[in-house]
Amino acid sequence: MTSFKTIEWKGRAVRLLDQTLLPGRVHYLTIRTEQEMWEAIRSLRVRGAPAIGVAAAYGMYLGTARQRPRTLAAVRAAGAEVADYLATSRPTAVNLFWALDRCRGVLDALPEGTGAAEALARLHAEAVEIHEDDVRRCDAIARHGAGLLRRARGVLTHCNAGALATAGVGTALGVIIAAAQRRKEGFIVYADETRPLLQGARLTAWELRQAGVAHRLITDSMAATVMQRGLVDAVVTGADRIAANGDSANKIGTMPLAICARHFGVPFYIAAPLSTVDFAIRSGADIPIEERAAEEVTHLGGQPIAPKGTEVFSPAFDVVPAKLIAAIITEAGVIRPPFRQGLQRARRRAG
Ligand code: MRU
Repeated sequence: MTSFKTIEWKGRAVRLLDQTLLPGRVHYLTIRTEQEMWEAIRSLRVRGAPAIGVAAAYGMYLGTARQRPRTLAAVRAAGAEVADYLATSRPTAVNLFWALDRCRGVLDALPEGTGAAEALARLHAEAVEIHEDDVRRCDAIARHGAGLLRRARGVLTHCNAGALATAGVGTALGVIIAAAQRRKEGFIVYADETRPLLQGARLTAWELRQAGVAHRLITDSMAATVMQRGLVDAVVTGADRIAANGDSANKIGTMPLAICARHFGVPFYIAAPLSTVDFAIRSGADIPIEERAAEEVTHLGGQPIAPKGTEVFSPAFDVVPAKLIAAIITEAGVIRPPFRQGLQRARRRAG
């Protein structure tokens, strides 16, 4: 159990922990409209693939209900319009589209003659189910993954794939914290600061402190040295979208970790729910990569760190080739290569 709630339904609105203010301020936002939810997702107030999916589902309900549709057809039309709008907030995390599709599917499956109030209630219930489902998936991922880290003394992670990034205990960080809690001592986490937006420094270090897990913060450029010195026995990160062949998109800076890990003989693991697997995408080459504003690179904490007008290239994610991944930890178990078959089997098992 964490001492904070990343996302919560509060009767008529969603309560979000504003992650742009952490670690300095623990401040909760009240989200009442789809526009507010779009902005919260776009600005990374709520972030991390699973949390974005949960937020989008609630956002779809809020936006649809606000239009006060009076018939099933009107609920479906409003729902589709709001879903299309929310889908433009961020392009890479597939959980966003997965959650919106699930909500749309619920409306499409309702029998003709269903009243508008009932349809809205079903839409809301689906958002709640997506939320609760993520909690269960995270618990299962943590359980499966902690077994893999039984003998690890040091683990490296990137970005934040913890409770802040999900509705539950997290994915990669959930695994790491579960492993640390089993070990009690002799276990340390190396957390990459994660340039440019510092999710590792601001969020992962904050979560690890809350959980009482020993950790050291490093700049991204120190990770190779950490591996070369034998300080970690595994690298575990989350993912924003996993292609059918196992290629995995995650926060920019993840791919260099996987390359270094292979070089130094350290296993590189991805931890993610099956809702992050995009079975429609054959390989990582087809994963849309978000590019973000130049100011996120030219400024740090609002202060310029580069000459005015400096040109910037700012992809927010990179794609780890499947051949560099030792295993993908999902709620259906630990999947080893070849991933195409393993992921398909896991999907069948999970129903
Ligand atoms: O840009 P962000 O902060 O949303 O990126 C988040 C990540 O890259 C996470 O590692 C990923 O979404 C997995 S979260 C369980």
